Amino acid sequence: MNDYSNRVVIVTGAGSGMGRAMVHEFTSRNARVAAIDVNFERANETVAGLADPSRARAYRADVSDPASVQRAVDDIVAHFERIDLLCNNAGVLDGHAPAHETSIEEWNRVIAINLTGPFLMAKAVIPQMLKQEKGAIINTSSTSGFSAAGGGTAYTASKHGVIGLTRQLCFEYGAKGIRVNTICPGATATPLAMSSSPDMEAAIRSFPAQRWCRPEEIARLAAFLGGDDADFVHGSDYVMDGGWLTAARDPF
Ligand SMILES: NC(=O)c1ccc[n+]([C@@H]2O[C@H](COP(=O)([O-])OP(=O)(O)OC[C@H]3O[C@@H](n4cnc5c(N)ncnc54)[C@H](O)[C@@H]3O)[C@@H](O)[C@H]2O)c1
Repeated sequence: MNDYSNRVVIVTGAGSGMGRAMVHEFTSRNARVAAIDVNFERANETVAGLADPSRARAYRADVSDPASVQRAVDDIVAHFERIDLLCNNAGVLDGHAPAHETSIEEWNRVIAINLTGPFLMAKAVIPQMLKQEKGAIINTSSTSGFSAAGGGTAYTASKHGVIGLTRQLCFEYGAKGIRVNTICPGATATPLAMSSSPDMEAAIRSFPAQRWCRPEEIARLAAFLGGDDADFVHGSDYVMDGGWLTAARDPF
């Protein structure tokens, strides 16, 4: 099991759901964690709820804003002096809108947070990882990174884009010591998903696992992918969806 003693992990979207679970998981494995969220109070709540709150610090940053991202990463490097793992987890849904009902503002908002955000975060942390000649990045996509219908047009396009971003970063930086991989969760019991559609409960009963994924399960996958047990894992897409894609019965 990966131990993160002396490692520094950044988690975006740390104020809720899977991001919050990741902060718990990494700190329980002795990491020091920078917990980023656009909602600073919720990031602070995550830190305050840890068994040892001194292991983590909350940062306010909007991952879609280049200046905000750079400021947070500069502060994190100044405080922690290294970055071993970036978990690009922050993301938003798009209301399942089809293309002709998606405004350009909504398209730009979802792409900016879900796709430009992971790019901006990677761009900001990679110089530090290159100095260290070692690092790892985990981008959170979705089953919507492979299939249509789990989200609307903007969400599905953004999550397909995240997989492409991972592959290109892997190609560019793998030989320089930086591993980049994607996590693709299925329906996971977080505020984002549980408010997304009243049809979800019925949909969940129709696929093999017949239950929601727990955020802690995604966090444990991240802890595997981010550490030395996954040293040979580069550019991969790790689906954890209870069989959703395999069964291919999308509910929407
Ligand atoms: N829950 C699911 O079923 C599911 C399935 C597949 C993929 N995902 C993806 O997993 C990731 C985490 O989702 P979740 O379900 O835990 O969501 P969540 O809504 O519970 O948490 C997302 C967090 O991201 C933060 N955030 C939103 N915009 C931000 C921004 N611009 N800058 C910084 N932080 C921002 C929010 O404040 C929130 O704390 C997302 O990328 C989501 O698309 C979720």
